[in-house]
Amino acid sequence: MDKNSRLSLTAFTLNGQMVEVDAPPGERLSHSLRERLGARDVKIGCNAGDCGACTVLVDGAPLCACLMATQQAMGKVVETVSGLAADDPDAKALADSFQAHQAAQCGICTPGMMVSAVALLRDSPQPDATQVADALSGVLCRCTGYRKIIDAVVAAHIPGLEAPADGSVGSPIPRIDGAAKIAGAERFGDDIAPPDALVLRVIRAPHDHADFTFGDLSGFARSHGLATILTAQDVPGRNRFGVIPGFEDQPVFAEGRARFRGEAVAALIGPAEAVTALDMTVLPITWAALPAAMTCDAAMAALPLHPDRGETNEMCRGFVQCGHAESALAEADVVAKGLFETGFVEHAYIEPEAGFAEVHDRQVVVHACTQAPGMDREALAAILAQPLDQIRIVPTAVGGGFGSKLDLSVQPFLALAALKTRRAVRIAYGRVESMQSSTKRHPARMQVKIGARKDGRLSGMAFDGDFNTGAYASWGPTVSNRVPIHASGPYRISDYRAKARGIYTNGPPAGAFRGFGVPQAAIAQESLFDDLAAQLGMDPLEFRILNALDNDTPTVTGQVFEGGVGIKVCLEALRPAWQAAHAESGRTGDPAIRRGVGVAAGWYGCGNTSLPNPSTIKAGIRPDGTIVLHQGAMDIGQGANTVIAQIFAQAMGVTMADLTLIGGDTQVTPDAGKTSASRQTFVSGNAAKLSGETLRAQLLALVNAGPEAQIVVSDGQISITDGGQMHMPDLRALPVDGEGYSLAASETYDPPTLPLDENGQGSPYAQFGYAAHLAVVDVDTRLGTVTPVRLVAAHDVGRAINPLLVEGQVHGGVAQGLGMALMEEYIPGRTENLHDYLIPTIGDVPPIETLIIEEPDPHGPFGAKGLGEHALIPTAPAILNAISRATGVRIRQVPATPARVRAALKEAGYA
Ligand code: FES
Ligand code: FES
Repeated sequence: MDKNSRLSLTAFTLNGQMVEVDAPPGERLSHSLRERLGARDVKIGCNAGDCGACTVLVDGAPLCACLMATQQAMGKVVETVSGLAADDPDAKALADSFQAHQAAQCGICTPGMMVSAVALLRDSPQPDATQVADALSGVLCRCTGYRKIIDAVVAAHIPGLEAPADGSVGSPIPRIDGAAKIAGAERFGDDIAPPDALVLRVIRAPHDHADFTFGDLSGFARSHGLATILTAQDVPGRNRFGVIPGFEDQPVFAEGRARFRGEAVAALIGPAEAVTALDMTVLPITWAALPAAMTCDAAMAALPLHPDRGETNEMCRGFVQCGHAESALAEADVVAKGLFETGFVEHAYIEPEAGFAEVHDRQVVVHACTQAPGMDREALAAILAQPLDQIRIVPTAVGGGFGSKLDLSVQPFLALAALKTRRAVRIAYGRVESMQSSTKRHPARMQVKIGARKDGRLSGMAFDGDFNTGAYASWGPTVSNRVPIHASGPYRISDYRAKARGIYTNGPPAGAFRGFGVPQAAIAQESLFDDLAAQLGMDPLEFRILNALDNDTPTVTGQVFEGGVGIKVCLEALRPAWQAAHAESGRTGDPAIRRGVGVAAGWYGCGNTSLPNPSTIKAGIRPDGTIVLHQGAMDIGQGANTVIAQIFAQAMGVTMADLTLIGGDTQVTPDAGKTSASRQTFVSGNAAKLSGETLRAQLLALVNAGPEAQIVVSDGQISITDGGQMHMPDLRALPVDGEGYSLAASETYDPPTLPLDENGQGSPYAQFGYAAHLAVVDVDTRLGTVTPVRLVAAHDVGRAINPLLVEGQVHGGVAQGLGMALMEEYIPGRTENLHDYLIPTIGDVPPIETLIIEEPDPHGPFGAKGLGEHALIPTAPAILNAISRATGVRIRQVPATPARVRAALKEAGYA
């Protein structure tokens, strides 16, 4: 059969235009739209009908384009978000409302949300929240917590959108990159490869632990029309990578032994048709499965996974001690203790890892979704054995990261393939591949004991935690170091001992996920605080307020902050909601359903732990008056593009509209460090503030203006008004630098920290952020189901640079904390897709009230503190405490699935 006879011609209307497409029978409509018709506004998150990112309208009905064969579109009218945003009145109203409500964060789900919402508005122009939740229930979002999306759709046709704020620090302006996300114009990792790019497919281990040998790979490549096959032998430099110096232990391609299910062993590269047609069952690889150690206990009894790194599977440990924990606990009037366990949690960003690479002259250029372009470049330099200047990382938009896109994924495969073939090469992970191979939140097993005196004061705490870091280190050392510092929670505990171990197992590598182990520790500590309060007969909220840290009070590492410790204010802010919620506690209308309210707090040190952590932000003014901000802090949906620009504009004394932004690109934008650990608003924000101040000073000096002078940019002309006199600096008369700037400033900020001593004493962070959450839940005692009713989240952010974005961060964190508490557990081989691995849907997230507290931080830009991990940390323990207060049953293993809750209820005597 000739190749073309296998294609069939389908004609349909796409966004108002008649189109014809030749596609093989059964090809997904989503694939035809993206790859044959260039409709890259249709996003792919799963190719299985689970995520809804690919939703399009077919004859007006919202359908998953990945579940529809192209030929089924014959004669139909297909609409995608880009066409709707251009022409449809409902979509235009929605776009404005999405922007005003901050309903798009990373934006990868937004096309699916918009399209589904248009279908709803055509039938019901003014829907209520329930109708919206029903209509959008097929689309998953991992960033927003859905509430802002619901608000945006409800309000789409209600007049009275407020005029946008001015963009100064503290004003709730819509994100500056939001319009492109809402219209489907944002370009993510799989949206930018040239049409003739070769396709790369990674071969991965089907076992948790196995030896393997290859047969005739070259013959296989020849006979199947492939360009090449890469293995470990094709790595010219170090076949190892990692994110912590000294812990680079993960091979790009495994060498004879795979240590986790999904580990890469080879990569096939070829034309798209050849790679797509491959029968993977005939690959010349022979596997020999080995016993696998999946838990910390099993691994500590097993042979080491990495004999070159030690005689046991203990990878590293962290330790903090102050006072005498054991003697304080012995003298305590009441003691609460217990074993707490958590499982692997998957990041489940809707955008799977993707990108493409090509070679320009001798430089390999990698375009991919990443949270850390500078780190990517350094890691590739070691792998490729190339100098840094021959590697360029140009990040695409990132469709969610939450920590996992800090680690390398597609980058080394793409770079190796492009260098070998000298062609553009692309890859987009499938959903299963993404879930198998990406890092996870560490499972934890924590033995914790906390004491208190009769007066309610804490008296001693001992914490021992084992954290399952999987087959490779990733961010395991960071987790081991962070947990002992944070396991006290934001409370004064003078006698304290905490130890955390990271342990290698045959699980997937566990890395960074919004908290670096702190959310797990908070579950144990905050649960036991409720138990202590109960033993003392104290109100749990007042018990926390009594023990909360304050200014001039040492933390467990002996660090004392003179200002900015806002946990007490956060807890006190919950008091009205706490007292109101008590009135509705207990039974509901149904005697089997019990309502409970729980509270929990959290804190998080912003930036690296006792390590250098610099960010650099550069800006310049061109001769024509254009002010350019090189903004390299990766915006993964949290809003760095907007917040950093707001800080810079305020410091320079110009408006946001005066700025032209250049994004992350290792060739032209300095390294603003990685987007992690709640550091960008704080660290890069400070660098942006310094740059703005420096550029302002240079500009004012041109006309000898004083510091209070006003800068105005109008029609490309910069004018400076000082003491009633207006000056027009002649920028064209100045010499320009190598980048064409008449004036330029590049400033670096590195937070002041001090190393920890052998007892973990020192000043690991320049600032902490603080949070306290309240959760109201209904527990069905017959079924074990837990239904969150509402949440109240109080957050001390120092200064809310952009309150709209603060709310967005809080909502997204709360939703992820809810998932961690009630439903999310990654089990290799069992929950490797978005059908079996459950994340909160639009129907799972209840109303969230955000209370913004501003206790200025002396080190923060305009007083601001970081906010990323904080938004998630208190949610799960608040929910667990609510379950306990509803039923009297303490759940010590998350997720608190219906089966686990029901079993605990039964054991406690519930019918
Ligand atoms: S890509 Fe179609 S539902 Fe996920
Ligand atoms: S904004 Fe919904 S997945 Fe990121």
